[in-house]
Amino acid sequence: MKILAINGSHRKGKNTAVMLGLVLEEAAAGGAETELVELADWRIEYCISCNKCLREPQCSIRGDDMAKLAEKMLAADALVIGSPVYFGNVTARLKTFMDRTRWLHMRENLLEGKLGAALTHAGLRNGGQELTQVILERFLTAHGLRLVEAREPAGPIYNTAPMGTLYEGLDDGRFRWRKGVLEDELTVVMCRILGRNLVRLGSGAET
Ligand SMILES: Cc1cc2nc3c(=O)[nH]c(=O)nc-3n(C[C@H](O)[C@H](O)[C@H](O)COP(=O)(O)O)c2cc1C
Repeated sequence: MKILAINGSHRKGKNTAVMLGLVLEEAAAGGAETELVELADWRIEYCISCNKCLREPQCSIRGDDMAKLAEKMLAADALVIGSPVYFGNVTARLKTFMDRTRWLHMRENLLEGKLGAALTHAGLRNGGQELTQVILERFLTAHGLRLVEAREPAGPIYNTAPMGTLYEGLDDGRFRWRKGVLEDELTVVMCRILGRNLVRLGSGAET
């Protein structure tokens, strides 16, 4: 089973990348082949709304890295998409990528049936993680992917998705921040559950 993780952060290797890495690490321990794509390494032009993809499953924009990214997506059995929260939304970098995948589903759903999962990271405790999570999940289901959650099959963790925060608490009314997502125990646990669930569902253990 091949799992492709895609990081929409402008900051390679930071919180969102660490979360995706935890998912992949756990999935690899379960036997999956994994790859992390940092979108910050790839050149992606804007969709120009030429609507060529309404007529044929192709994009008119050539010469950037989007075709290579599409190849990777098509070759994967599961996609995991992660974004930091920017104003209650995904980053502009990830949105540009999302828009450019339109040709993969307008004529036929070329990604249909693959597994899909999403995760987010934000500074604040209620900083828009859930909104951003919904946006990511909507993108995955628009492409016909089957959503995988970070729910324990029979366990005490009832959340559905890893949504990290740097907020740790208050000291005399001032915010106390975590240094990074690895200090956010629940989020780390949920990333690992998600990695295990991807392998469990991908190996056909459940549908
Ligand atoms: C332009 C911008 C907008 C942001 N908007 C939010 C926000 O709406 N809510 C929030 O909690 N954090 C917000 N943040 C903080 C990031 O979500 C946070 O730093 C996150 O950990 C970055 O992820 P990364 O380390 O993977 O890059 C924003 C940061 C930037 C640069």
